[in-house]
Amino acid sequence: MSLLSVQGLRVEFPTRRGVLTALDGVSFDLDRGEILGLVGESGAGKSMTGAAIMGLIEPPGHMAGGQITLEGQRIDQHPERYRGSHIGMVFQDPLTSLNPLQRIGDQLMETLKIHHGLDDATAKRRAMQALDEVGIEGKRRDHYPHEFSGGMRQRVVIALALASDPKVLVADEPTTALDVSIQAQILALLKQLCRDRGTGIVLITHDMGVIAQTTDRVAVMYLGRLVELGATDQVIHQATHPYTQGLMASTPTLAGSVDQDLFQIPGAMPRLDAVPAGCAFHPRCDRAMPQCKTHAPEFDGRRACFWSES
Ligand SMILES: Nc1ncnc2c1ncn2[C@@H]1O[C@H](COP(=O)(O)OP(=O)(O)OP(=O)(O)O)[C@@H](O)[C@H]1O
Ligand SMILES: [Mg+2]
Repeated sequence: MSLLSVQGLRVEFPTRRGVLTALDGVSFDLDRGEILGLVGESGAGKSMTGAAIMGLIEPPGHMAGGQITLEGQRIDQHPERYRGSHIGMVFQDPLTSLNPLQRIGDQLMETLKIHHGLDDATAKRRAMQALDEVGIEGKRRDHYPHEFSGGMRQRVVIALALASDPKVLVADEPTTALDVSIQAQILALLKQLCRDRGTGIVLITHDMGVIAQTTDRVAVMYLGRLVELGATDQVIHQATHPYTQGLMASTPTLAGSVDQDLFQIPGAMPRLDAVPAGCAFHPRCDRAMPQCKTHAPEFDGRRACFWSES
């Protein structure tokens, strides 16, 4: 049994001009100690997928189909029972997760007391352990969030998320706001925690470089659907979907030659109220065939595309 399973996830937003489908048939599994990347351009539905797992879709948006299970148990019907305890969260801006008026050691203690009903002494010990684990030691624990750099703040948030010993961590662009060198440190920390504790991580990013550096498997999203899913090495070296190939070719660290002008996928991701017929990617695809304009290819567990090399 996989740790986390997302099956046929569909998310809709009713609007005055009709229903927008933000996610359509998104399915994937996550194992213990595995990092699964969700990648795609802005508007692909990455954060929406993370929000569905955490039960944080903003009304009137809602899950209109599918199910999410944790160790075989459905969690989408009562997500508040799992959020922050079984499912931890890390977002792009650490300040949204931290109380500016409270020392970070105290914040951790409080979280532990609330979530686990621990007494002061035990909560303090666990809080110190969690901060140790993310490399925050000594006097730093008595500091306030504004006294830390962005990277250190994100470490605090990771410690907060892990203090409850979640089985799954959803990290939505956790390093996007950080310098490249700090970004690498945080990604290495997530990797290490995942290995040491067996936590499953869903890592959301628009950056194929981060995917290559960090994840075991990757799910590529386009306009609310999965278009390619596979082992990261395989997807990176033998991407089979033209969209994935485009993402790779437009990533500086992965494109091969650095002196060449970097490729850009032509056009932009359409809005949800203007989804093209057929394959939603076809207007931007240099391999589109007549059938791509009229029929949407099914996702077969590995890719959703009519085009094949042979
Ligand atoms: N509250 C909302 N009401 C209606 N549509 C929404 C709402 N929130 C998000 N959407 C739409 O859902 C789609 C997916 O958005 P999502 O935030 O998941 O994208 P993303 O892949 O995380 O992009 P980014 O890289 O910009 O964070 C987008 O078209 C977005 O406009
Ligand atoms: Mg997002």
